[in-house]
Amino acid sequence: MTAAISMEALYQRMARVVPKAEWLGFEEDVEAILALKKTRNAVILAHNYQTPEIFHGVADIVGDSLALARKAMTVDADVIVLAGVHFMAETAKLLNPEKTVLIPDTGAGCSLAESITPEDVALLRAAHPGVPVITYVNTSAAVKAASDICCTSGNAKQVVESLGVPKVLMIPDEYLARNIARETSVEILAWHGHCEVHELFTPEDIEELRAAHPGVVVLAHPECPPEVIAVADFAGSTAGMSDYVGREKPARVALITECSMSDNVAVQYPAVDFVRPCNLCPHMKQITLKNIRMALEENRHEVTVDPAVADRARLAVERMLAI
Ligand code: 13P
Ligand code: SF4
Repeated sequence: MTAAISMEALYQRMARVVPKAEWLGFEEDVEAILALKKTRNAVILAHNYQTPEIFHGVADIVGDSLALARKAMTVDADVIVLAGVHFMAETAKLLNPEKTVLIPDTGAGCSLAESITPEDVALLRAAHPGVPVITYVNTSAAVKAASDICCTSGNAKQVVESLGVPKVLMIPDEYLARNIARETSVEILAWHGHCEVHELFTPEDIEELRAAHPGVVVLAHPECPPEVIAVADFAGSTAGMSDYVGREKPARVALITECSMSDNVAVQYPAVDFVRPCNLCPHMKQITLKNIRMALEENRHEVTVDPAVADRARLAVERMLAI
C-alpha cells in the first residue's frame, strides 16, 4: 500500500465528521506521528473526548477512563503518549512505572482533580472515622494515595457495593456520588467537586431537545446534575454511551457530554442521526496532533509520580481493577 492510499483510507474512517479541507491540513502531522510511533516504539492512548483526527487517525488504544487504565497495563511499548488529561497520564504511569509516559500538554487538567487535596481527604476521614474513601480516578495521585480504592463512572456502583459496608465516602464528584446513590442502598457521602463541562447541562436543555427532535434518545454522563440524569433515557460512562448506541441503534440520539464524543461515535454508526448539544472540555482540547508530534520528537512532557505517594496510589487503582 502506498503512503497516499493509506492516508486516504485513514481519512475515510472519519470522513463523516472531518471535512476534507481540514484533513489536508492534518495529513503531514498524521504521517509524521505514524512514523515516530514506529521509531520510538510508542503507543498512543486516546480518551473518547479527543478530536476525531487524533481518535481515528493516530490512536492505538481508545476508550473511557476505565478502559484506558485497564489497557495501559497490557501495553507492550517503550513509550506511552496519553492523549487525554493529566490524571489519565498519571494513572498510566502508576501502572507502568518502568515506561516513559508523555502528556503532550501539561495544562490538560480537570476541574474535578483540582477540587480536592490529600489534606481535604484527611479532614473527611477525621470527620467520618471508619468510613471507606472511594476516589474517582479524576484526581491526583496524591489524593488516590489518601484513599482506599478508586472508581470510574463505568464501575462506581460495583466498587461501592464491593466493599460490603453501609456507608462510604465517594469523592470528589458530588453529582456522580448522588447519581450512584440513587442506584444503591449504600449511604454515600459526597464532596463538592463538579465537572465544569457536565455541570452546565440543565433539565430545560433536555426538554428543549426533545421538543425540537421528537423521538430523540437522550444518553447522559453521570457527571451531569441528578436533575439531568432524571430526565435522560440512559446514564453511563463514555464507553457506556457508545456501547448503548451500538447495541440499541436508536434512529436519533443525543449524547449529553463533551462535543468530540458524538463525532467519534458517529463515525462508527453511520445509520444513527446524532443531535449535538454539547460542551467542550478545554482541558481535553489542549491536546492536538501538533503537540502529540512534538511529544514524540522531543520526548516531552514526561509524567512522573512522587515516589512518596506512588505505591499507595497504585494500590487504590489496582484494587479497583481487581473488581
Ligand atoms: P469516562 O470515564 O466516562 O470516560 O469519563 C471521563 C471524564 O473525564 C468524563 O468527563
Ligand atoms: Fe475533567 Fe470534566 Fe474535562 Fe472530564 S470533561 S476531563 S471531568 S473537566
